[in-house]
Amino acid sequence: MAKIILTGDRPTGRLHIGHYVGSLRERVKLQNSGTYDKIFIMIADAQALTDNADNPEKIRQNIIEVALDYLACGLDPEKSTIFIQSQIPQLPELCAYYMNLVTVSRLQRNPTVKAEIQSRNFEASIPVGFFTYPISQAADITAFQATTVPGGEDQVPMLEQTREIVRKFNSTYGKALTEPDILLPSNEVCQRLPGIDGKAKMSKSIGNCIYLSETADEIKKKVMNMYTDPDHIRLSDPGKITGNTVFTYLDAFCTAEHFKRYLPDYDNLDELKTHYQRGGLGDVKVKKFLYAILMEYLEPIKKRRTELEKNIPAIYKMLQDGSQKARAVAAQTLKAVKSAMKINYFDDDELIKEQVKRFQR
Ligand code: TRP
Repeated sequence: MAKIILTGDRPTGRLHIGHYVGSLRERVKLQNSGTYDKIFIMIADAQALTDNADNPEKIRQNIIEVALDYLACGLDPEKSTIFIQSQIPQLPELCAYYMNLVTVSRLQRNPTVKAEIQSRNFEASIPVGFFTYPISQAADITAFQATTVPGGEDQVPMLEQTREIVRKFNSTYGKALTEPDILLPSNEVCQRLPGIDGKAKMSKSIGNCIYLSETADEIKKKVMNMYTDPDHIRLSDPGKITGNTVFTYLDAFCTAEHFKRYLPDYDNLDELKTHYQRGGLGDVKVKKFLYAILMEYLEPIKKRRTELEKNIPAIYKMLQDGSQKARAVAAQTLKAVKSAMKINYFDDDELIKEQVKRFQR
């Protein structure tokens, strides 16, 4: 069976380093591994509108930001089809049919939707489109017959729901859809990088992100202000590692090579952690180390982004071409779905013959 990837992001802002370690870095690796037959990367503007209906301009502005971030990180349109969700009308059409296979109570039990309803204060008035977005996400995934969906742990409930829909569809109408698996980032801390304030998750609304497109000065300021161990006051004080954002980021970013380059007195992160816990290691030294590592990752990304920004029309052209390709693939799946559901009246010669017979006297 062909190995096919589909994944994507809501274009509600520029991408940050949480996206980078949680998904982008992984996607580029997968893309360049050569083990996948097809890769689809979707800018989920229609999904973003489910909780931003009153702010289409925000979504419109961020399409290009996300596309630039993708390419700057190394996604290559020659190898990965990058497209815009709203340009694929087959997706809402599939979604409409899948809606018959899902109950309201099943949607209400989706933990990611539950958490999002709370965080958006939607309890009293949930937009129907938002409530049903897991079904639309099942359409996104199945339209491309994806076998693999790289994503963070918040996507696990979405994949479960998608798999249920696929099984229900295939058992009701005959096999037309592929059951996908999620692919989580291999490094646990990468699945949910906290914000620089140590809060649960990087989030634009809290303002605790480091963006991929930020300047070196801005990044330095943010790293120097990062939340560490509030009880680690004097250099000689023993420090805590758990909940210490600087060490969490080091877990996500640093390798033995980085120690050779910037902190040759230590062999690896465990040694650095032990010293910090014993006391005698200052926050500033660790923060400078983290800053050097971050810049090693972010500098080439920013350089490529600056180049890409010089030819914006080419980015839109890439998105348009990608959307056209994606549309053709989704159309094939929709055709198979409609034929499985027996709503393919005009390309079923048998049907017309049967009906001719039925009405012969
Ligand atoms: N829900 C994803 C997010 O919050 C975006 C998305 C939409 C997606 N459709 C998808 C991800 C299909 C993976 C597969 O960013």
